[in-house]
Amino acid sequence: MYVCLCKAVSDKAIKQHIAKGACTMRELKAGLGVGSQCGKCVCQASAILHNELVKQ
Ligand code: FES
Repeated sequence: MYVCLCKAVSDKAIKQHIAKGACTMRELKAGLGVGSQCGKCVCQASAILHNELVKQ
């Protein structure tokens, strides 16, 4: 499922990036471009980030 339509970033891509060590929205933005255009995906991407970090 796409989380960020502007940059065509899926939840899977976000989870993979977190598994490789990203632990902040800034790192997700720098690595994948999430939230770098309209910003509508930031809430959902942030929720995925928090869920994944809790699992680690
Ligand atoms: Fe992610 Fe627009 S949907 S920046």
